[in-house]
Amino acid sequence: MGTIVGFASEKGGVGKTTICYHLAVALSRYHGKKVLVIDGDYQRGGITGRFDETLIEGFRTGQIQGPTLYNKFLELYSAQTLTPDIKIFATSEERIHFVPADPRLSAVTVDKIPTTNNIRENMRSLWRHLSVLEVVLAPIRDRYDYILVDSHPDINDLLRTILYACEYVCSPVKLDLQSTVGVVSAIEAINNVNSDIELVANTIDETIDYSPTQYAGAIATQAREWGGILKWTERTEYRRIAQSGPIFETYVTEGDGLRQAARDRCPVFDISGQNAEKQSQQLRELTKEFIERCPA
Ligand SMILES: Nc1ncnc2c1ncn2[C@@H]1O[C@H](COP(=O)(O)OP(=O)(O)OP(=O)(O)O)[C@@H](O)[C@H]1O
Ligand SMILES: [Mg+2]
Repeated sequence: MGTIVGFASEKGGVGKTTICYHLAVALSRYHGKKVLVIDGDYQRGGITGRFDETLIEGFRTGQIQGPTLYNKFLELYSAQTLTPDIKIFATSEERIHFVPADPRLSAVTVDKIPTTNNIRENMRSLWRHLSVLEVVLAPIRDRYDYILVDSHPDINDLLRTILYACEYVCSPVKLDLQSTVGVVSAIEAINNVNSDIELVANTIDETIDYSPTQYAGAIATQAREWGGILKWTERTEYRRIAQSGPIFETYVTEGDGLRQAARDRCPVFDISGQNAEKQSQQLRELTKEFIERCPA
């Protein structure tokens, strides 16, 4: 059964998409893993653009081939039974499939669930909303070793659904003065989802088979070095994050290699030059640590 791992941070631009994309490519190319990537960033669709540039126009104009994850939420909002089928796309990487972003996912909210005057039934509906991604992934999980989920930088009802489906969550961080902010709120959101589901299991359905989502750790990205080691200020930030929870030992430095890769819509592994090679090496190391922290 594929291990489901989410990438989450309330802060934007910290490297969620970059890390999620490169881990997917490295898991497939260097470890022979079959990977499904879900693009949950309904605003940018960064994963979608990386894997299939031709889908970006449809993403901008709302011409999305479905069924998408949004269609699944719509089924709940119109009081239908949730059907798990979802459209999956192939990529130029043999072992990677992906589900493109749907801009309409910005409209996901529990406020749209039909309510009744029965508290238990309402609670059950909230749980169904939380379970949408899990239900969608259940029948296809066996086809993959890893399912990676990129997300939008916001703690909302969609993110809660993503967190619930995940076994592990990583939180990329930029080592600046506010770096702990995104990490702390991601951990808090995971804890909230875990305690909510415990409440549901204890009150309305004892048969719910649920293991709590685990926080795999922060991943430092866009780090700056001086003389081959982290700059003093960044080392201080790294230690500060380490005090509030787990953090990956491997970090990824800031540099032109990844910038060029983003421009060319390809992995940094395919870019030549000293800086790209350094970042490629770091991302390959990170992938090894990722497999240890989030085993398949
Ligand atoms: N190590 C790095 N060196 C240089 N540029 C980087 C590095 N990591 C990421 N970037 C660039 O920084 C920008 C933000 O990265 P990315 O899109 O991965 O962040 P994000 O957390 O997914 O952002 P958002 O929250 O907006 O989705 C991108 O333009 C990306 O190419
Ligand atoms: Mg992103």
